[in-house]
Amino acid sequence: MKLLNLFITGLLIFTLAACGGGDKPSSESKAPAKSMVKKEEPKAEAKAEADPMKDIGVGPIKEAITFGELDEALAAKGEELYKAKCTACHKPDKKYIGPAPKDIYQRRNPAWVMNMILNPDGMIKEDPTAKKLLQEFNGTPMSNQSLTEEEARSIVEYFRTL
Ligand code: HEC
Repeated sequence: MKLLNLFITGLLIFTLAACGGGDKPSSESKAPAKSMVKKEEPKAEAKAEADPMKDIGVGPIKEAITFGELDEALAAKGEELYKAKCTACHKPDKKYIGPAPKDIYQRRNPAWVMNMILNPDGMIKEDPTAKKLLQEFNGTPMSNQSLTEEEARSIVEYFRTL
């Protein structure tokens, strides 16, 4: 009997200890839950890091372009070219087969725009922004119009006037 009593007491102590021990981790487990909420902050930082205005894309233009004063003669040349080569798919201020170039420099660096005009195939393959755009436009790719850098630059100037 003594042995059985000892056994039961031992079992009781063990059970109580296990319960007490069980309580602690559950109250501790609330703490990690709180710190998981805090972990969302770096996500916002990552978003700010991917600044589309600094993205120049991939293609022959390797450096960001900073605009000086508007070159009206160049913009006029660009407008002519745009009407001849681009309006089949683009309207200046409305979404059509492709996006509208109005206010494009509020979301893109001019160098990115040039690379999109000069190297649309490479952009669609390698540039994350162009890839997303292709999806948005249901997989219709922007076609290469075989423009020279100068011609592309004139259209980029014309887009400033929209
Ligand atoms: C065959 C139709 C077609 C023609 C022609 C075309 N584009 Fe596009 N363009 C698109 C489509 C579709 C997209 C969006 C999907 C993609 O990028 O593939 C696009 C995207 C663009 C973008 C990116 C716009 C943005 O909001 O980021 C620019 C810039 C652009 N085109 C300029 C031009 C210029 C300049 C010309 C004329 C030299 C031209 N495109 C001719 C279909 C065309």
